[in-house]
Amino acid sequence: MLDFLKSLLNKGLIKMKNNLQAIILAAGKSSRFKTNHSKLLEKICGQEMILYITKLLSGFEVQTTVVVGYKRELVEATVKNNHAEPINFVHQEQQLGTGHALMCTQTFWERDHILVLNGDMPLVTADCIDTLYKKHIAQNADISFVVAHNIDPDLNSYGRVIQEGSSIKIIEAKDDTRENSEHCCINAGIYLFRKDFLEKNINEISKSKVTGELYITDLINIASKKGFKVETASAQVDIIRGINTLKELWAAEQIKRAEIIKHWMERGVRFAFAQNCHVDLNVKIEPGTNIGAGVQVYGTTTIDANCKIEAFSILDNAILQEGVTIRSHTIVKNSTIGKNSNVGPFAHIHTNTIVKENVAIGNFVEVKNSEIGDHSKAKHLSFLGDTQVGANTNIGAGTITCNYNGILKQRTIIKDNVFIGSNNCLIAPVTIGNNAFTAAGSVITENVPDYALAIARAGQINKEDYAKKLLDKNKQNIVFAVRDEVAIEDLVNSEELDTLSSE
Ligand code: UD1
Ligand code: CA
Repeated sequence: MLDFLKSLLNKGLIKMKNNLQAIILAAGKSSRFKTNHSKLLEKICGQEMILYITKLLSGFEVQTTVVVGYKRELVEATVKNNHAEPINFVHQEQQLGTGHALMCTQTFWERDHILVLNGDMPLVTADCIDTLYKKHIAQNADISFVVAHNIDPDLNSYGRVIQEGSSIKIIEAKDDTRENSEHCCINAGIYLFRKDFLEKNINEISKSKVTGELYITDLINIASKKGFKVETASAQVDIIRGINTLKELWAAEQIKRAEIIKHWMERGVRFAFAQNCHVDLNVKIEPGTNIGAGVQVYGTTTIDANCKIEAFSILDNAILQEGVTIRSHTIVKNSTIGKNSNVGPFAHIHTNTIVKENVAIGNFVEVKNSEIGDHSKAKHLSFLGDTQVGANTNIGAGTITCNYNGILKQRTIIKDNVFIGSNNCLIAPVTIGNNAFTAAGSVITENVPDYALAIARAGQINKEDYAKKLLDKNKQNIVFAVRDEVAIEDLVNSEELDTLSSE
């Protein structure tokens, strides 16, 4: 953060705050999203769309007002929860257009220049706003706004900027009745107004004949007609993309995702198949880490140096310490994996689990709300839930900690240097002492003392030559019936079946 502020200082951006305030338009109905949610709360690389703009402005330290309306409680709460500094909110009760949204903020106009931004443009950069501001001040303009050159026919819903001699106006796409109208210069939705211009002219915005809305863009037409000074600043079209549909959201997220992945590549992170990986905005990755195809890294995950994340794994709010290997198709969520540990393939580590150093968690192992000590192993087909495993302990294949009795979740404690045989059920609450053994197939219901061997399974009986006896008595039919199951009911009362099942 300090570096960011320093870089702003170098560019002179910090000086803006004295004569500038910002307004974000975020009340719109998001009708083109067709989701019944506010598009401004849709996440792009893990962060809500509206926060891209509010955080950009908080970097400038300008006083900010957000116009809210549709789903306003949720939008307001999201902004408040993510900002320490005070932000004003204005309620636009009816969504009568962007010009009307600006009118609603009039009582908050205090500074000489008022920066207005659409809330649905998450890719805008500090440089873009800086360029606009500098031009506005240098040219002593009444209105300055950002334009972009667009040749993509898919992006045809933007306001069209039309310049003829000294006159400049914006025609909204919906209102454009010109045949074969040329519209390669588009309006970005970022405006800088002199406050006195706004005060005198805001009420002159007239309703669109097509939509009945009051457009903020009408102010450019008014200014130009009245001979006020209107300036434009150019930006790349990708930076000013406005998000009105789920398709546009997808396109913007692809751009952001590529930006994030390139950022980490420049810092020594290898992506084997970058085009199908996803990394959220607040993830941190150290150099020397290798990320396989289809890996998704979400939330505030941190990955230390020299880790290897194999294909199709998902890391969500995970902490991976140095040298960890996550093998393919593994999920780690809200959990920590200690140095040099190996997890997966097909493992699921979640709910505040701490896997310590040099641990091996193998395939089809689920670990939930547990701690696994240094050098311990659970390599095959296990569930460890609400469990504390000490150091150097081996959990045999197929072991289950039975942590839930239908009412309570209870803990299993397995101490250091323990050997849990294969296919054990450890019925919690239960403690297995240091250096203890349990026999394969055991159902452990009682605590096991240090150094003990617990065997908790039915003893095996071998009946010598029993099969021969059956054959001798010509009982093949029964054997077949048992094998085929179909005739078992017919045999229930028969003497032969008794012979098979008794003793
Ligand atoms: C707007 C511009 C268009 C520009 C484009 C850039 C207008 C009339 N048109 O069109 O020239 O090319 O942005 O992306 O401004 N909002 C409110 N209250 C309302 C209506 C909208 O607060 O009554 C908010 C929305 O939540 C949104 C922003 O204003 O964040 C822009 O509204 P939107 O409907 O997305 O405008 P566009 O049609 O994209
Ligand atoms: Ca828009």
